[in-house]
Amino acid sequence: MKETILLRVNAEDPELEKIKIAAGVIRRGGLVAFPTETVYGLGADALNPEAVKGIFAAKMRPLDNPIIVHVADKEDAYKLALDVPESARKLMDAFWPGPLTLVLKASDIVPKVTTGGLDTVAIRMPRHKVALALIMESRRPIAAPSANLAGRPSPTLAEHVIRDLYGRIDVILDAGPTNIGVESTVLDLTSSPPQILRPGGVTLEDLKKILVEVVVHPAAAAKSEVHVEHARSPGMKHKHYAPKAEMIIVEGELNSVIKKVKELAEHYVRAGRKVGILATEESMCKYDLGIVKSMGSRRDLASVARNLFKLIRELDDERVDIIIAEGVPPKGLGLAIMNRLRRAAGYNIVEGR
Ligand code: TXA
Ligand code: MG
Repeated sequence: MKETILLRVNAEDPELEKIKIAAGVIRRGGLVAFPTETVYGLGADALNPEAVKGIFAAKMRPLDNPIIVHVADKEDAYKLALDVPESARKLMDAFWPGPLTLVLKASDIVPKVTTGGLDTVAIRMPRHKVALALIMESRRPIAAPSANLAGRPSPTLAEHVIRDLYGRIDVILDAGPTNIGVESTVLDLTSSPPQILRPGGVTLEDLKKILVEVVVHPAAAAKSEVHVEHARSPGMKHKHYAPKAEMIIVEGELNSVIKKVKELAEHYVRAGRKVGILATEESMCKYDLGIVKSMGSRRDLASVARNLFKLIRELDDERVDIIIAEGVPPKGLGLAIMNRLRRAAGYNIVEGR
């Protein structure tokens, strides 16, 4: 076991002496978990192959899954990428700092272990004072996947990081809950037209305001497992966000969803199984069986995104056998929410009718 240092930092006005401790660890090749506006990341010096290997080991992450490189200055993208097309420049101006990751051709300075052996690199500038201060003080781009054990839901609280990685990493910076709750949108600008590999905090509708054409990778919006062509986005083919419990997503029009969730809950409770239900503000009062949790309001999908991973972890902690979750319409942030829910459930989807 490693000794893990836990540091509480102010999210709005990070204490410089604490950031300096963490930055020193990054510069020496160590591992630091830190908050971003999306989820907590597990950071290492992106240009130090040994340090990046440490991330894979700590998370038990498959080596072919590339890692996003975080910068604190748009200019740094030009050093990491071989070529920054006009479209990338416009997107950086519109959405950085923020939850948009751009996949570009990688320059020689990016180690192969960071890109999972690909010739492209994923870059983003986070919108969180702690993340930006850490990158600036480290004076290094920081490679950081979500700070969970591979396959588990992404961490939106430092407690989640502690649960998964305590004793496996050097520092955890705790600045409270993350704001967005689902990860960044991963946009591949090396394909034509640009393609969303992972829907996230910046929506398709947002991107369409800047790009003439943009498509969603079929696997990112799929309702069943899609065979992903070689290495376009290796993350797609790995098991993800999975609770320990079995999970079912009920999709469709709200009234039929409620009816179906009730039916399923009754069935499983009668079979002696402990049931958890992920509902919404508008529907939670309809259920009288199982442990019922509201993800947020259907009129405010940002609230659903913020709570999603935390609630999946909570239901696991309550040792339910089965989680039945309501789907939401896959529009706006709903596309990212449904992508996470469907994958968490291993595409175990039922249509409410
Ligand atoms: O919001 C986020 O993006 C968070 C915070 C910490 O920044 N990070 C995050 O990283 O979610 P991770 O490793 O959990 O997810 C990164 C995703 C994976 O699906 C990976 O396959 C994809 O981005 N990715 C990374 N580099 C890529 C590349 N060069 N080409 C295609 N996909 C890439
Ligand atoms: Mg992840």
